[in-house]
Amino acid sequence: MQFGRTTLSKFVIENTRSSHGELGGLLIDVAAAVKTISAMLAKGALAGYHGALESTNIQGEVQKKLDVLTNETILHHCEWGGQLAGMASEEMDDPYRIPEEYPRGRYLLIFDPLDGSSNSDVNVSVGTIFSIFSRPAAGDAQAADYLRPGSEQVAAGYAIYGPSTMMVLTLGDGTHGFTLDRENGNFILTHGNIRVPEDTREFAINTSNERFWEPPVQRYVSECKAGKTGIRGEDFNTRWIASMVAEVHRILIRGGIFMYPKDNKDPSKAGRLRLLYEANPMAMLIEQAGGAASTGRQRILEVAPDSLHQRLPVILGSKNEVERVERYHHEYDSGTDQPFVSPLFSDRSLFRDQA
Ligand code: F6P
Repeated sequence: MQFGRTTLSKFVIENTRSSHGELGGLLIDVAAAVKTISAMLAKGALAGYHGALESTNIQGEVQKKLDVLTNETILHHCEWGGQLAGMASEEMDDPYRIPEEYPRGRYLLIFDPLDGSSNSDVNVSVGTIFSIFSRPAAGDAQAADYLRPGSEQVAAGYAIYGPSTMMVLTLGDGTHGFTLDRENGNFILTHGNIRVPEDTREFAINTSNERFWEPPVQRYVSECKAGKTGIRGEDFNTRWIASMVAEVHRILIRGGIFMYPKDNKDPSKAGRLRLLYEANPMAMLIEQAGGAASTGRQRILEVAPDSLHQRLPVILGSKNEVERVERYHHEYDSGTDQPFVSPLFSDRSLFRDQA
């Protein structure tokens, strides 16, 4: 350890003493898995890990070699320590049973091993997202044990594999960022108590889906796009990396709003993103940093899951903007919304027929 700097290990041990080392030990194992994945990704095309497999995951998405390798990396780094009652991940249809030879503990680890994995082929930032619950009963976890609202998470975090590798973590008392020092292999606390600015002029959404969105989201985005000429009276910037971890990271550092709303592109899907291993952990991190996370109609952390791979709409980031989008949903649902009309084409418009 470099003198005077707080390592991730020191931070988690100091902040998890009430769990008698179990939660701290688990987080240190997650960090070890993240370092392995970081080294794997940093080799890029040289390692031969890129490309697709013939398999698909439960979502019907084609699995990449890296999806499977990173999933196994996390399972094997975390299964042995005796802290876990089970694990679940985006890449496995059913929860993972801890092998017989290892002791069981009281925690459940739920993760997306490589979120945004299609970006790894084009050398753009990707990430690992994780969520941890504690379970009162001893022994192996049952499928129903995983279906708990995000407000019961005891810890959540993500790793971002970008120009530097970072781990961003919450234990329910603020959101803290650690940067991997590649020279000595330690994660060092570099971003203590991150705060998301309450206001923003930056929004992230995949606008190719615009025609499929619900009216409240169309209204919000059209108002942002109208900029100075619209009712917001200010210009906005758009961002879309197509990597949720990178979008959330940007928002934690400088504010913004990220939306993957409900759309009617495929009516059988309630949204694109997954509740247990994408929305819940990100919502806890964002709320712990002073932001907000909503489906548009409900606080994400209060959604009661009904299945392991459940999808939902996600709107998160700077508090005042998320609250505005929620208001637009409520106004739409109650029939009191006022759709935005550009001043250029309104009653007093220059373009109106003056006759
Ligand atoms: O869920 C995976 C994910 O890659 C997210 O990381 C990202 O925000 C989103 O999907 C990108 O979606 P699209 O392909 O519609 O841009």
